[in-house]
Amino acid sequence: MNCWGVIPAAGIGSRLGAAVPKQYLEIAGRTLLEHSLRALFADARVKGVAVALRAGDERAAALACLQDPRVLRVEGGAERADSVAAGLAALGERAAEDDWVLVHDAARPCLDAKSLGALIDAVAAGGSGAILAQPVSDTVKRSDDGNTVAATVDRRSLWLAQTPQLFRLGELTRALAGAGAVTDEASAMEAAGHPVGLVPGPRTNFKVTTADDLLLARCLLAAGEN
Ligand code: CTP
Ligand code: MG
Repeated sequence: MNCWGVIPAAGIGSRLGAAVPKQYLEIAGRTLLEHSLRALFADARVKGVAVALRAGDERAAALACLQDPRVLRVEGGAERADSVAAGLAALGERAAEDDWVLVHDAARPCLDAKSLGALIDAVAAGGSGAILAQPVSDTVKRSDDGNTVAATVDRRSLWLAQTPQLFRLGELTRALAGAGAVTDEASAMEAAGHPVGLVPGPRTNFKVTTADDLLLARCLLAAGEN
């Protein structure tokens, strides 16, 4: 099975508000971007990864992990979906339409090899693609005004989407081109009518968005848990 990767790493990390975009913060001697990249290459089925970087990003030039011959550097876009599309376009020169592509956030550095392997195995067994996702375990409230509870939502059918998200290169490229603003690849595939499989991902595969996420990532990665 030929598998490729796209890592969108062209964001500015405004919600975290660190001195540098969060993908360049270091934990246990490696940037978040490097942790995410290594996590993908942990599976031997991953042949190469396109990393989407901000135009004029000087920090990227200094990163040894991006010198790996299996890594393709591409210019990202204004939104995450634009950065992913740029990565897919670059892979198109090396990969076939029917090859599989894992899209994985640079800001999700605690992905473990077992979950990645389970996702790839699930797709190899059939279907048009799948994502790692976490079943919701807390009681869920909906609020209309941001202050009071309007309703308690049945959580039994709810999942939190994670990355990687794994689809065929050609189908995903076309789905993203036809979709409006989406915050993940599965949304575009769903809109295009493709069934999307769910593979349970661990809570530890969270996205670093805020300062408390960063604290948790430091604990996990410094302890060598992932
Ligand atoms: N991303 C990207 N291109 C963009 C925006 C985001 O490649 N134009 C990437 C980020 O670098 C990150 C991933 O998409 O790895 C997930 O996005 P998010 O967590 O929203 O990161 P940021 O956009 O950097 O953060 P924020 O929204 O807080 O500014
Ligand atoms: Mg963002």
